[in-house]
Amino acid sequence: MPRLGVNVDHVATLRQARGGSDPDPLYAAMLAELAGADGIVVHLREDRRHIQDRDLTLLKQIVRTKLNLEMAADDAIAKIALQVKPDMVTLVPERRQELTTEGGLAVHEQRERLKTMIQLLHDAGIAVSVFIDPDLNQVRAAHKIHADYIELHTGRYANTRRLKEEQQEYEALAQAAKLAYKLGLGVSAGHGLNYHNVSHLTHIPEIVEFNIGHSIIARAVLVGLERAVREMKALLTARLPAPRP
Ligand code: PXP
Repeated sequence: MPRLGVNVDHVATLRQARGGSDPDPLYAAMLAELAGADGIVVHLREDRRHIQDRDLTLLKQIVRTKLNLEMAADDAIAKIALQVKPDMVTLVPERRQELTTEGGLAVHEQRERLKTMIQLLHDAGIAVSVFIDPDLNQVRAAHKIHADYIELHTGRYANTRRLKEEQQEYEALAQAAKLAYKLGLGVSAGHGLNYHNVSHLTHIPEIVEFNIGHSIIARAVLVGLERAVREMKALLTARLPAPRP
């Protein structure tokens, strides 16, 4: 059965919208684990648009499953990773203007730099995954730079509208997963996966983990809204005594 890594970045996005402390991604991580998540994923971005350094430090202390830190291959962020020591680092490309991680890493093109970064993380006992498009050359390159895992970017698959395109993207993911497995790499997948499109991918046996964020947090807002409104209504109806001055 594939594992589920829950990405709690967007809980932090909501918190940052008001600049306060609610909702706290730490609480979300604990609830996700209680509900059966096999891992917690966060992306510490250079611009700190959602997850903050404090979140990462505290998550390392409270996560009981596996903490997977997504990060750019950047020296300043790597320094933080080496201090915090998450269970796994997933190297992702990062551009300031993007809304989310838009494509996979060009591993072959920056192999020397990535290899050095992976070695540094390995020396600290951190497993490393690289986030790549389902491209056989990128899989081979990931193997050459000694990554432990690849995470296949499922964005193109998730965005297809036609059945034929979906089949093509599925096939590309299946072939990349197969090659990675043959080369001894662990295989996970993520990006844009939701309640409608994930089931099909569970038929690719080499994919042992799915990392999912946005759709789970978006659904949580909706399935939790009714209860949240009821609880506020109950407070208004209860007319509790005012606090003493
Ligand atoms: N995996 C990686 C490497 C990502 O960068 C992201 C987005 O942060 C995800 C998985 C989760 O994507 P989504 O939020 O679309 O489920």
